[in-house]
Amino acid sequence: METILVQVQGSRNVVELEINRDDVDPVYRQVYRQLREAILSGALSPASRLPSSRSMARDAGVARITVVRALEQLAVEGFVESRVGAGTYVASNLPAGEMQSHIFRPALTDWGRRVRTLHHANGPLVDSSRPEIDFGFGRSFAERFPYDIWRRLLGRYLSTDDAMLSRYGSAAGFYPLRRALAEYLTQSRGVRCTPEEVVIVSGAQQAIDILARLLLEPNDEVLVETPGYRDAYALFQLHQARLVGLPVDNEGLPVDHIPADARPRLAFVTPSHQFPKGGTMPLAPRLALLAWAREREAVIIEDDYDGDLRYESSSLAALQGLDEEGRVVYLGTFSKVLFPALRLGYLVLPRALTAPFVQAKELVDRGAPTLTQAAVADFLTEGHFERHLRHLRRLYGDKRTTLVSALDEHLGRRVRYSPVAAGLHVMLYATDAVDEGQLVRDAAARGVRVYGGAPYHLERPAPPSILLGFSGLDEDEIVEGVRRLAEAWPD
Ligand SMILES: Cc1ncc(COP(=O)(O)O)c(C=O)c1O
Repeated sequence: METILVQVQGSRNVVELEINRDDVDPVYRQVYRQLREAILSGALSPASRLPSSRSMARDAGVARITVVRALEQLAVEGFVESRVGAGTYVASNLPAGEMQSHIFRPALTDWGRRVRTLHHANGPLVDSSRPEIDFGFGRSFAERFPYDIWRRLLGRYLSTDDAMLSRYGSAAGFYPLRRALAEYLTQSRGVRCTPEEVVIVSGAQQAIDILARLLLEPNDEVLVETPGYRDAYALFQLHQARLVGLPVDNEGLPVDHIPADARPRLAFVTPSHQFPKGGTMPLAPRLALLAWAREREAVIIEDDYDGDLRYESSSLAALQGLDEEGRVVYLGTFSKVLFPALRLGYLVLPRALTAPFVQAKELVDRGAPTLTQAAVADFLTEGHFERHLRHLRRLYGDKRTTLVSALDEHLGRRVRYSPVAAGLHVMLYATDAVDEGQLVRDAAARGVRVYGGAPYHLERPAPPSILLGFSGLDEDEIVEGVRRLAEAWPD
């Protein structure tokens, strides 16, 4: 890296400009940027005379035009002024002294401060480090996505004679996608809905956020499962709700154990496949949950995040299909079955909530992107989705079998977990003596990233547990990852 020091003689000070020819910034931008900083910091005082462009260029060993371009840009922005025949001066109308002494940090609202606290507590969602084997949860297996089909479908809507992209779309979503989803959800998930009740969102997370804003006052109670979906916990807390955590058993939420004095406005549940522990809620407790919601005037959010990815028996019909009174909001996402970066999810809303939700969505972001919605609609209606799902079930089903046999072989009785009947992860429970944080660190030292289960539990101390996502790894990596994890796992 070559660095040239240039001295600019101001009326008060000497300023050094560093020019780095390896920098991605062109040289004239570097001169411009540093002169600008020198003026703002007061190192070059107002009305002081700069050396001529010729002498600066000579000092720097750069072409004169490079310095001239920098000075021209500074003149356009009002930092310097050229006086005919007399050279270039720092603008005389600028205040003397430091104009930018520190980075301004606007005061955050309570809400903004809660975002920071909750975010830090949860840890970053996106981690840039690259361990050898990462059991990250929620990845799709990119190698198997039908990119050719996807490209073709997107391409259809990228022609100049298609007026669709030159207009705002409906805030409720692209109608053909809503219609395709209504049909799919009715047939495959036992949901009862019309296309008008389906609303497209930018991922399930946005749906939870808007529902919380519409339904929760500060200090309202929200009934949640523990372990449960920590990103939903965080959003409810952001909206100042109080979480009432109910420890789940192997069949999901034990409705009989809901505290008699709890008065939740909202219940957030994963009846098809309890997240993250596993287990499916049978019919009787589902009916009991609906009866409970009726008695308590509560709304139920049914998060069906991976109901399409069931391996052994066919998927269980959604709780929403049993609801006669419009108490259940059904929530689905394309993050698992297509890919998470798509940022598309959907809701089936009870009639009474559809208009307020869509109005809120319109104010918040005007609606999900039409282009990707249109491609997904065609993906569904032309049969690619069903085919892709069959493919994924086979692919992930094989990975799951590999994972389970590796766990049996290498960890055996040291761990407990529910049958992996669906989804892309398994939650492993250790004996109470195991130090979860140490286990995560010891696995990391062996090149394997695993995720501690504590943030998914509301009980304190949380039972030591590890969340393993298997969808982003191939079968060899799964076996090797479990083998190394077992080395780190105390007996
Ligand atoms: C329980 C649960 N619900 C919903 C989602 C989907 O969230 P989104 O659609 O915002 O990607 C996930 C993703 O990880 C999840 O684990």
